[in-house]
Amino acid sequence: MIGTFRRFLRSALPEPVRMSVALARRQLREFGPRRRFAARPDGAPSGAAGHPVATVTQPIKRTAFWEGKYHNISRGAELLDGVRIAPGETLSFWRLVGRPSEAAGFQMGRGIRGDALGGDIGGGLCQVSGIVYEAGLRAGLEVVERFPHSQDLYAEEDRFAPLGLDATVVWPYKDLQIRNGHDAPVTLRVAVEGEEIIAAVHGPAALAAHDLAIERIDGMAERHVTVTRIAPDGGRAVVSANRYALPPAEPAPPPCPIGEALRTDGFAFAGLADLADAYDPAGWAAFAQSWDRMPRDEYMADGGTYRRRRFSTFALEDGAIRAKPPQPHYQTTGYNPLNGGIDRHYEPIEPAIAAHPLFEGLMRRCGALFAAARPPEGGAWHVEAHQFRIEAAPDGEGRPTPEGMHRDGVDWVLILLVAREGVEGGVTTIAAPGGEPLVQRLLETPGAACLIDDRAVRHEVSPIRAAGTAMGYRDALVLTFRAEGAAD
Ligand SMILES: [Fe+2]
Repeated sequence: MIGTFRRFLRSALPEPVRMSVALARRQLREFGPRRRFAARPDGAPSGAAGHPVATVTQPIKRTAFWEGKYHNISRGAELLDGVRIAPGETLSFWRLVGRPSEAAGFQMGRGIRGDALGGDIGGGLCQVSGIVYEAGLRAGLEVVERFPHSQDLYAEEDRFAPLGLDATVVWPYKDLQIRNGHDAPVTLRVAVEGEEIIAAVHGPAALAAHDLAIERIDGMAERHVTVTRIAPDGGRAVVSANRYALPPAEPAPPPCPIGEALRTDGFAFAGLADLADAYDPAGWAAFAQSWDRMPRDEYMADGGTYRRRRFSTFALEDGAIRAKPPQPHYQTTGYNPLNGGIDRHYEPIEPAIAAHPLFEGLMRRCGALFAAARPPEGGAWHVEAHQFRIEAAPDGEGRPTPEGMHRDGVDWVLILLVAREGVEGGVTTIAAPGGEPLVQRLLETPGAACLIDDRAVRHEVSPIRAAGTAMGYRDALVLTFRAEGAAD
């Protein structure tokens, strides 16, 4: 009931009022001779008294608000350095550091506010309180007040101290207070050196460091951390058992319908917008015009002169594309009974087109989509790129796939329609391995594409005929993907 009322007050009162209330309550609680607080030394710290009982070094990680954070950490270190804690005295972080404000010389630094990392005046001071806390624990000081963070917001590589050894400080609500229960005075030394902060507790030679054992259990929604202090005589005491919530998980990326279709159906139809990030109309025009500059395919075993083409090969790994030296195109007669079985030499794709952002973007995007559906063994793709123009004279027909219903003998295939001028026909059929058609679709608009799992389905494009009295044509880009190093 009281808790509910408090929570209500907390949310209803404006921040300055809440601060005043918290401050008054704290002063009341800490008033009187029961608690004696260590004060900052007059003048510069006069060096360490005794030997370093416990020393802790932490990196100051380069993060957002780095300069402000570094400044605040340095300022906090300065204000705590050299503080002597007499026997029975308590070190209060906020009593020594003071309210962090710009007037007091603090800057915007990275802090945790409202369970999120962000900018905060005095941001970074939690690292100072945390390192002082750890040094205090190791020096055998008593913990009077310490709050853990409520969330574990750090990835392992961003962590500057083990989870469980943090001490969040929020003026005036949450303080770090540690008491010297030893019968000799100790001195706190805190310094920033380069990109490290070092905190040490110095004391008489008789004082020895304590060990800390940290037990952490990672759950789905939170982490449980128990810190046990082991005294020099072997005595063990649990000093904290904290739960840290994990930040809410990133929302799952929206399902990729193309990837989904590739996995379940073995084929997918898509548009250029799905496949190329770098699409712009001017770029597309330059790209498509290169189909006007294609040599005739001299290897047509059916005697046809209706096909023009270029051919180049590439290696694609982790999004990096490497053009391979020109090489002949070879298919077995098993895959291509019409034109297979011999090396066929074609002019390479024009360098400007092979390096065109649209071309490279398509290759990368398809490589990623295909790898997501079934990664290439070894991690790299061997990509063969074919530019095709199939012509249809008024009295004849052109055959995009003269070999009929087929597989290309690779892992994956992209067929991208680049242009269709003055032709009819050219319907794409996808068929099951046994030959029964699964879908028929006309790639009609420039940029329309079909992605094919070449291991799962077969494909064919029906002949084209001139729609009028002039020569018509169908331009397509075909990219085939197979694992680098796999046999043809
Ligand atoms: Fe094919």
